[in-house]
Amino acid sequence: MSLSGNDGRDGFTSKFGIICATAGSAIGLGNIWRFPYVVGENGGGAFLLVYLGFILLLGIPVMLSELVIGRRGQRNTFGSFRRLSPGKPWWFIGVMGLAAAFMILAFYSTIAGWTLEYIVKSFANAFKGKSSEELAGMFQSFHTGVFWPLFWQVVFIVMTAWIILSGVKKGIEQYSKILMPFLVALLVIMAIRSLSLPGAMGGLQFLFKPDFSELTTSVFLSALGQAFFSLSIGMGAIITYGSYIRKENNLTTIAAQVSLADTLVAILAGVAIFPAVFAFGLDPAEGPGLIFHVLPSIFQKLPGGYFFAIIFFILLAIAALTSSISLLEVVVAFLVEELRVSRKKATIMAASGALFVGVFCTLSFSSLSEAKFFGKTIFDLLDFSASNILLPLGGLLIVVFVGWVMKSAEVKDELSNGGLLKIRLFGFFRFVIKFIAPVAIAIIFFNSIGVL
Ligand code: PFF
Repeated sequence: MSLSGNDGRDGFTSKFGIICATAGSAIGLGNIWRFPYVVGENGGGAFLLVYLGFILLLGIPVMLSELVIGRRGQRNTFGSFRRLSPGKPWWFIGVMGLAAAFMILAFYSTIAGWTLEYIVKSFANAFKGKSSEELAGMFQSFHTGVFWPLFWQVVFIVMTAWIILSGVKKGIEQYSKILMPFLVALLVIMAIRSLSLPGAMGGLQFLFKPDFSELTTSVFLSALGQAFFSLSIGMGAIITYGSYIRKENNLTTIAAQVSLADTLVAILAGVAIFPAVFAFGLDPAEGPGLIFHVLPSIFQKLPGGYFFAIIFFILLAIAALTSSISLLEVVVAFLVEELRVSRKKATIMAASGALFVGVFCTLSFSSLSEAKFFGKTIFDLLDFSASNILLPLGGLLIVVFVGWVMKSAEVKDELSNGGLLKIRLFGFFRFVIKFIAPVAIAIIFFNSIGVL
């Protein structure tokens, strides 16, 4: 493991590496699996518009605030708050973040496991000649089974732990560097094929033509939750990564570039999926299985689809890995720095804990499908509580912390790298995180849970 300066801690060594690793955390199943199905469930275009507004007005400021906390605090999410505001209970944001990391990792590994199964199915040419009903049936019988979904979940968590064990720089930087551009290229090819299917226009209209009658308070909360989930913000993953970023890198550029890349990939996934959904007469609101029905149908209609399917699902699994390592890193960095546990022990403890909870998520599609709490399966409950409650609440507290608790001069110093960089929009950023973001998040959140 190489040391690169930051308080003698391990860190990212190149600017490109930082962007790739942070973008690697942001770009994942959230863009390609979750975004399309949540758009589908929330009525399409109007949701997309609200989502984009939230990314710009709330997402980027929260991400920048997290980068500031992490690089200034030079610790894991819990430790950074304690260092920046000693003796005050702000470290509680870190505790919420740890809980969110566990919960997300648990259900994330269920879906990531599905992508591993689909790599094997692609190799076996299992989609060949199947109608979309048959493909739907194939997915149904797989994900409502017990053994294979659990098996792949274990494999995925072990892979995540293994990468974490190889250290920050070598592990995270190297793996994310090369592969993400390939994923984007493949999505472009799939989007083009999807758009050329007969009936594709319906999908484009669904995605881009807003129908404002669809906008309910729950749509706003879902858009906020999706924006935070997709950008990996509100729980300290970006605080943790921020603490590995060197003092000479420009935090504002990183936040802007990562958010832009993340949003483009999500929209690209939407453009690949919805035209095909409409062309094949499928239901856009069918839920978490959406891409697992639709993508194999697109591959079948693509020359060389056999190879494309294999490459795509491999890249998707890697995108999931670069996100899940950032989730596990949140917990491992905490255990190592605060509880003085060895990195190896910390990784094994955190991964086993996530796996334990994750098993219940996976089984909530089969043996535990009848176990419901507040009308939700265990999977849905964890997803909802983490994405729509803990992340918005965490994001709210994070902007309040940077806006009201940290001194303006301190924030400015961090954003300008000690006065070296010109920061033109500082006044605007300050205004957004002090007033606009906290008020907006509070209204959306409390309104939709029925408190306002
Ligand atoms: N942003 C990731 C995705 O879109 O797949 C998921 C995620 C990673 C959420 C890390 C939160 C996090 F801290």
